[in-house]
Amino acid sequence: METININVNEREYEIDAAYEKETLLFVLREVLNLTGTKKGCGTNDCGACKVLVDGKPVNSCVLMTKKAVGKKVITIEGIANDKELHPIQESFIEKGAVQCGFCSPGMIISAKALLDNNSKPTREEVREALKGNICRCTGYVKIVDAVLDASKKMNA
Ligand code: FES
Ligand code: FES
Repeated sequence: METININVNEREYEIDAAYEKETLLFVLREVLNLTGTKKGCGTNDCGACKVLVDGKPVNSCVLMTKKAVGKKVITIEGIANDKELHPIQESFIEKGAVQCGFCSPGMIISAKALLDNNSKPTREEVREALKGNICRCTGYVKIVDAVLDASKKMNA
């Protein structure tokens, strides 16, 4: 069997080369069993499937797996360390930014990409960074509050 390697959450996975024609979302969920990344629209519109590829937030439902070969993919499973949640995850819980939770992994990925590049964003900058992420439950205010709260914690 011909294989390819993909690096996800700092771990190398060797998978059947036939999967390079599948979306990264399919490979993450169905092949690697990393089901924290969600499938919402499947058409690049909702952000539920967002992951970091070389540090940039990308909708994995429209990225072919072959484009992820040789790059570093981080999913929601790779955000926390073994013992503790990431401050963004803590703030989402504390600020009530999680309701059904379906959008949360993608929101947290977008927030992480923002805070990694801009540790003290304004409310407007947070809104801008999350504009590709749709939430049907929260009305967004608590999500933006959570990202600003995480920023404070990470700068303390
Ligand atoms: S599932 Fe990928 S953008 Fe909606
Ligand atoms: S918490 Fe339900 S879609 Fe955002």
